Amino acid sequence: MEENKSKKAQATVEVIEFGPLKISGNFILKDLKRNTEEKPVEIWLCRCGKSGNKPFCDESHKK
Ligand code: FES
Repeated sequence: MEENKSKKAQATVEVIEFGPLKISGNFILKDLKRNTEEKPVEIWLCRCGKSGNKPFCDESHKK
């Protein structure tokens, strides 16, 4: 079952210069803290480590 989900997922990962990773398309986000799954359309993941809302970018990288 888990393997079938992976085969259907099609996403684009874009590296934003000096910023987050933008992920868009058809994918599943698994939240480690709440153990839930979501199917967002697009997300921005923090790469700088400064976000107060990890794993998401909160634009703290601009400060
Ligand atoms: S990349 Fe934006 S807060 Fe870290």
